[in-house]
Parts: sequence; C-alpha cells; structure tokens
Amino acid sequence: MKWLCYAGIAASLALQPALAEGVFGNHPLTPEARDAFVSELLTKMTVDEKIGQLRLISVGPDNPKEAIREMIKKGQVGAIFNTVTRPDIRAMQDQVMALSRLKIPLFFAFDVIHGQRTVFPISLGLASSFNLDTVKTVGRVSAYEAADDGLNMTWAPMVDVSRDPRWGRVSEGFGEDTWLTSVMGRAIVEAMQGKSPADRYSVMTSVKHFAAYGAVEGGKEYNTVDMSPQRLFNDYMPPYKAGLEAGSGAVMVGLNSLNGTPASSDAWLLKTVLRDKWGFTGITVSDHGAIKELIKHGTASDPKDAVRVAVKSGINMSMSDEYYSKYLPELVKNGDVTLAELDDAARHVLNVKYDMGLFNDPYRHLGPKESDPQDTNAESRLHREAARKVARESLVLLKNRQQTLPLKKSGTLAVVGPLADSQRDMMGSWSGAGTISQTVTVLQGIRNVAGDKVNILYAKGANVTNHQGIVDFLNQYEKAVVQDPRPAQEMIDEAVAAAKQADAVVAVVGEAQGMAHEASSRTDITLPQSQRDLIAALKATGKPLVLVLMNGRPLALVKEDQQADAILETWFAGTEGGNAIADVLFGDVNPSGKLPMSFPRSVGQIPVYYSHLNTGRPYNPQRPNKYTSRYFDEANGPLYPFGYGLSYTTFSVSDVNMSAPTLTRGGIVNASVSVSNTGKREGATVVQLYLQDITASMSRPVKMLKAFKKVNLKPGERATVTFPIDVNALKFWNQQMIYDAEPGKFNVFIGLDSARVKQSEFELK
Ligand code: BGC
Repeated sequence: MKWLCYAGIAASLALQPALAEGVFGNHPLTPEARDAFVSELLTKMTVDEKIGQLRLISVGPDNPKEAIREMIKKGQVGAIFNTVTRPDIRAMQDQVMALSRLKIPLFFAFDVIHGQRTVFPISLGLASSFNLDTVKTVGRVSAYEAADDGLNMTWAPMVDVSRDPRWGRVSEGFGEDTWLTSVMGRAIVEAMQGKSPADRYSVMTSVKHFAAYGAVEGGKEYNTVDMSPQRLFNDYMPPYKAGLEAGSGAVMVGLNSLNGTPASSDAWLLKTVLRDKWGFTGITVSDHGAIKELIKHGTASDPKDAVRVAVKSGINMSMSDEYYSKYLPELVKNGDVTLAELDDAARHVLNVKYDMGLFNDPYRHLGPKESDPQDTNAESRLHREAARKVARESLVLLKNRQQTLPLKKSGTLAVVGPLADSQRDMMGSWSGAGTISQTVTVLQGIRNVAGDKVNILYAKGANVTNHQGIVDFLNQYEKAVVQDPRPAQEMIDEAVAAAKQADAVVAVVGEAQGMAHEASSRTDITLPQSQRDLIAALKATGKPLVLVLMNGRPLALVKEDQQADAILETWFAGTEGGNAIADVLFGDVNPSGKLPMSFPRSVGQIPVYYSHLNTGRPYNPQRPNKYTSRYFDEANGPLYPFGYGLSYTTFSVSDVNMSAPTLTRGGIVNASVSVSNTGKREGATVVQLYLQDITASMSRPVKMLKAFKKVNLKPGERATVTFPIDVNALKFWNQQMIYDAEPGKFNVFIGLDSARVKQSEFELK
C-alpha cells in the first residue's frame, strides 16, 4: 500500500534553509532535550505570547482568514483546527514564519475519526471487525492521509464506552464493552502515532472525551453523568488509560459533568487522576466552547471566572472561544491565575509541538510547496482497496433464514429503499474531508459486483422519514437529506412493482447519517414509519426480503426481525461501502463481523448490556418467576446480543478445556476450545473469552470480555484456540478503591457471542 512506501521518510526530510536559525534546528526528540528547549523558549515569551499558545482556533465565519492573520502576527494563536488542505495550512504557517516575533509553529488538527480522504466504516463498524490488524490499517491509512494534508493532530480515538443507543455519538465509539474499547483505542493510537508523532506520515492522537461522556443520562447529548467511583474506574476509565499508555499526546475533555462537576472544571479529573495518578505528560484540550459553558453549568460566575476555573482545573488549550485572550491577561496580572499556572499550560502546548517535530521543521507534514497535490480530492490520493477490505470485515449478518443470502448472480433483483443510492449517508458521521461523489452506494456496488449477470430494478420506495420536523433538523446545516416529493404510497407502489418482478428484494433502510452524530439523540430507535410501511408492503409480495441496514446505533428491530428473511448490518460503511456490501450479499466474501453493542428490543429496555450484575433475583427464562428482575411486557434480554454475528457457514465450539484447576498470582492458566467449521464454505468467526468473578467483596458482572481471536477455517477444518489467563484479567477496583484480584472461583465462558457459551471454571489461590 502507498503509505507503506513512505514509512521512514520522515527522518530524512531536510530542514528548509531559511528556518535553520532561531528556534529551529535539529533538536533530538528526547524528553530531556525537549524540556531544556521549552524552558529556554518560555523565558523568551511574553505573557501574551504564552496565552496565545493556549488558543485553538477554527477558521470559519467567526474567524475569517484575515482575522487569523492578525492573530498570528500578534502571537495570539497556538493551533488551528478544521483546515484540511496543504495550501491553506501552508499559508498560515508561512504567516507565522514571516510575521510573528518568535516564529513558534502552529499545529493543525482535525477530526480524523474513521478516515480522512478515504472514509472507512464508522468506529462502531470498525469495532464489529473484532480485528485489531484491521483497525490498525484504518489508523495507519488515516494518519498517512491526514499528515499528507498537512495535519499534525487528530481528535481521535473516541473511546467513550456507551451502553445507551439513544446517544447519537455511539456511532463514533467502539461500543458498550470496556475491554474491546480499550484494545481498539490503543490500536488506533499506536497506528496513528506510529513510532513517533514527528514522523512524516504520523499524527498525534487525542483520546476523548475525558471522562465518561458515553454515560450521559438518558443518552441525551451534552448531559449529566453520575456514577459510583467503582463503576467509573472499572467500566469507563480503562479505555482512556489504555490510549494514554499507548502514548497519546493529547486528551480532549468531555462536555459532560461528572458527579456534579463539569469535566472542564474538574481538577480532580484533570490533575489528580490524569497527571498525578496516571502520569500523563501531554496536553489537555477543552472541547468546542466548553470554557464558556462553565457559566451555564454553574461552576463559573462570568466569562472571566470561567477562564480562571478552567486554567486552574487543568485545561491547557481552549478550543474555539475567545475568552482566554480576553480575560487571561488580566487574571495573570491580578495573580488570580499565577505565572506558574500559565507557564505550565503553555509548556504542555510547546512540548507537544516539540514532540511533533515542529521545532525541527514547521513544514514537517507539508514538504516543499511544489509537492502540494494538484487536486486535493484526486482519486489517486484514496486507498480504496484498504477501504473495501475493512468495510467487508465490519458487516454483521444478523439473520439468514434458509440461506436467503448469499444472493445468486443471476435473475432479477429489486434494490429499494431510501438509503440504497445515497452517497452522503454511506459516509457516516465525522467524514468532513471525504468527498461525497467518490463514495460507492449499495446500488452502485451491486451493479459493480453483479455486472450484467443480474437484472437490477431500482426504486427508492420511501423517504428516510416523512416527519417534517426531523427532515428540517437533518437539513439544518447542510442539504443532507433530499426528500422525494411524490406521495408515500406512489413510492411504495413503485417499489412493490419492482419487487413483484424480481426473484429477491434488497431493501436498504435505516438512519440518515445525521441521525447518528453529535447532537443527535433519539427517544425512539425504531426505523422511521415511512420505512416500516415500505418493509410491510415488500413483505406482502412474498418475495425473499433482505434488509441491508445502514445506521449508527443499535436499533430496535423486533418487527423487522420477523419480517425479513435476511438482515445485514452495515453501519455506515464508508467510501467503498457499496462494493463491500455487494461482495457479501453475493457471497464473494463470507461475513464475519460481530456486534460491539447489544441490540435492545425496545427503548424501554435501555440500558441493555451483556456485562450487567446478576442482582439478587435474576430472571431465568427456563423457570420464569414473577418476583425476578425483568419487565413483564417484554421478553428479557436483547434481540441480538453483544458479540453476535452469523456466517454463511456454521461453526461449533467444543467444551472448554482448562490447563489447570487453579491459578496462582504469578502464573497462567490456559482455557482452550476446539472450533470447527461444520458448514460448506470457508469462513471466519470470532472466538470470545468471558470471565466472571463468582464471589467477591462486591458484585461483579455476569460476564466480562477478556480476549478474542478471529479464526478462519475451511469446511471441515478445526482449530484449537487457547486463551492464557493471568491475574491481571481478574483485577478490579473494590469498595475501598483498591485495584486487585480477589482469591476464589471464576467462571470461564467461551463462545461465538456473549449469550451462547461453553463454561468451565478455575480458582485463584
Ligand atoms: C466535539 C468533539 C470534536 C470537536 C471538534 C466537538 O463539538 O464534541 O468531539 O472533536 O467538536 O470538531
């Protein structure tokens, strides 16, 4: 792949001669050299210049280019975000070099969440791959493309564990599980930062949103989080910590409050936990406008107070608000913010710029002007092959009655649904640098893969929704959803007519990408009525009905599960999504994705997640009892459990074999199963290990994912999968907030999803 060819070029990039003076030189990228350099630089800086370093500015209507030029001239800006082309970035860095007193380079950041120019599946889809190599490919390609656009930093990975699909931002994360999110987040950090964020084709990462943003009450955006310290540290903190241990240079602070204190004014969070306990040395960045919001949160009385509170609480850079430059000079003058506090914040910013290699070469990711791409969106800049491969792995087969799938590459196929030919929606949330017209829809993918062997009839069938209020919401900032003006029945009739002529129907239904995004919480996670009407009409034709779902959160699909013959969950699959989906629909690729979030039956069940506590009265479906923990008007448990996903072949898992009945603190016990492909096709599946601490000083979850392995097997082939377990997998924060494993018995569960497992046990001595 292209990016591989460039690995290692970084070190050889020559310093531009004009810059080999002043602050620039061949500075060794070591912490000692950095600390000496930054200390020296701080002595040369005025208070205003230090404050300038703390400001993170987005170019836009509030800050037009001319205004930014003036800020740069006066040393009033530390970094820029939302500017994504080399010429634009170069122009600003040129201004720093030409106009500012100390020529301290800017760094440039962007939300590279699931790709830059090439858009990969949304993070929830990446998590569905249960494949760390796949996730690393995404990290590496994204970093390559971002750095190739001149960027130095990304606001990723988003590692907020979330168990509430009402929250639109579950689309950006890796799902409900602590361990899965931790390993996925760590893989992204390692892949994007490479050996060093200073490498030519690496970028620095920002682990976000610190902390526990994914647990907002009711799944309502920007809301409140309140939880026990045990739950916080056992379930929500590990992914952030994993990302930082992997070396992430930055942390973005959440917009939520945590136990009554907004994260942006929480010194315990940002200093005691992050710096003192975890030893984080990078920068903390507030989220968009978060400093101002402290007033509305009620922890600051006015704008000046908000700045004081934020700086003193440990926020280093302020994203997108003008308050730091307005009020910090006075606060420092009065001593309300001490010089030492200001220096500390500025030092962190300068440190990361040093770590990015910007004091060696401020044009690190830009190269000479002549090398700028002629066309930023050129096809040749995309990594389509990688995108198609990754997208295939992100697809989850939820249902396949009587082998409806794969489809035959012959006969007539009706392709219908509001999302079947929607390029915009295929890209999902946070895909700002991707180009809509370069994205392959499901319809196009089907045409590409089936060629002229299949007679394809297309009808839109329905709008995503006919609810005008929701359409207006989705189109508030861009014309994202185009409504077909025809009456709903006319559209349905057209789709039904196509279905009647076809051998099978593929209906592409779900959410518009804007429904699963920041600021997109829903109270109803069923399909919109317009699409339900379409599905009912298609079902009535009696033709085999395949639902291809595009959505950014688990949906409640009880009805659709009954109606459809097959269901393929595709999330928002990115630039090559349509081709990858067609590869799976026609059986060129056997699906192997697994769900990283449980699918509830209804909103009323939320939160529904597999790693819950047992309670004193667990519900037992074999022996139903009124006085147990359940809802009486709904089947217990999810519709599709965590870790679930089918294949075109079948697998069986043997009983669990333990290498020993006991585990000692310094030792290892191996849990093994033999997995067989019992079907007729080659295929891959994900073998999952879950543990349960049966009796402890506090209740522990009924199951916790601790390892997985993806295995590929030919028909009839069998493989032994062995998971080594050591004491670290058993540790937790107890009632006294001591992190340790307690002796006693542990259940071991191994299976191909979290619900259907084989069981054994061992004892920790
Ligand atoms: C989001 C962040 C994002 C930032 C910059 C905010 O609104 O909460 O996740 O990184 O905008 O785009």
